[in-house]
Amino acid sequence: MTAPDASPFDLTGRRILISGAAGGIGSATARLCARQGARLVLVDVVAEEETARRLGPALAGAAEIHSLDTGCRQAVTRMAEAVGPVYGLIDAAAIAPFDDWMAEEWDEALDRVIRANVKGPINLTRAFLPGMIARAEGRIVLCGSVAGWMGGIRSGPHYAFSKGGLHAFVRWLSRQGAPHNVLVNGIAPGPVETGMTAGKGYDPQLYPLKRMAKPEEIAATAVFLCGAGGGYASGAIFDINGGTHFH
Ligand SMILES: NC(=O)c1ccc[n+]([C@@H]2O[C@H](COP(=O)([O-])OP(=O)(O)OC[C@H]3O[C@@H](n4cnc5c(N)ncnc54)[C@H](O)[C@@H]3O)[C@@H](O)[C@H]2O)c1
Repeated sequence: MTAPDASPFDLTGRRILISGAAGGIGSATARLCARQGARLVLVDVVAEEETARRLGPALAGAAEIHSLDTGCRQAVTRMAEAVGPVYGLIDAAAIAPFDDWMAEEWDEALDRVIRANVKGPINLTRAFLPGMIARAEGRIVLCGSVAGWMGGIRSGPHYAFSKGGLHAFVRWLSRQGAPHNVLVNGIAPGPVETGMTAGKGYDPQLYPLKRMAKPEEIAATAVFLCGAGGGYASGAIFDINGGTHFH
C-alpha cells in the first residue's frame, strides 16, 4: 500500500530491469528511472558496449548491463539467475519490420516478430514473476502499442498482431500477480520519435498534436507505474497516443 506522503515517482533504492534499454523508449526510461533513484539492470540484444555508449558513461557506469535476445528462453533464464531479485521489470524490447506480408520471404519476418515481441515478454515475465510473487511485491510494465487496438498507423500485420496479443497478455498476467502484490500493466504509445519509426514515413501533421511523442513522454508513465503513484493500477493499458485513437 502507498504511504499518503510518498512521491508518486520516487524509485529510491528500487532495482529495475529494463529490456530494450539501448532503444529510444528503453534508454529514456533508464535515464528517468536513474533520476528517480533506481538501481538499473539494462538488457538489450545489442552488444553491452553499444548499450553503454547510448546511455552515456555516468548512467552506464552505475548500471549492470547484459547483452541478450529476450526471445531466447535459456538466455533469459541464465540472465535472471545471474541478476537475482528485481523490484520492477520494464520491457521495451521489440521490433517492427516494414515489409510486404504477401512476399514469399515474409514468414521469416513473422518469426522474428513473434520471437522478439511475443516470446520476449513471455520469457522475461516467466523468469522474474515467481521471485516477485515469493517476495510479495513487484511491478511489471510491458510495451504495447496503439497498433494493438486499431491495427497501427503505418505498422505491419505481424506487429499489430503481436501488440494486440500483448494487451491481452498484460490482463492475463495481472491476474497472476495481483493477489501477491505484483502489479502488471501495459503502455500503448502512439507514434514516438525513436529508431523504430525514423525514416518510415510517419507524418506528424496527420496527428492531433501535430507532432510525434518524445520517448521521455512514454518513459514517464513507466516510471509512474513502478513508483508509489501506480500502487492501485493493475491490468490496465495506458494509452499515451496524443489523441491518435480512442476506444
Ligand atoms: N516508436 C514508436 O512509435 C512506438 C509506438 C508504439 C509502441 N512502441 C513500442 O515501444 C517499445 C520500445 O520501442 P522503441 O520505439 O524504443 O524502439 P527502438 O527500436 O528504438 O528500441 C527497441 C530496442 O529493443 C531492442 N531489441 C529488439 N529485439 C530485441 C530482443 N529480441 N532482445 C533484446 N532486445 C531487443 C533493440 O535492439 C532496440 O534497442 C517497443 O515495444 C515498441 O513496440 C513504439
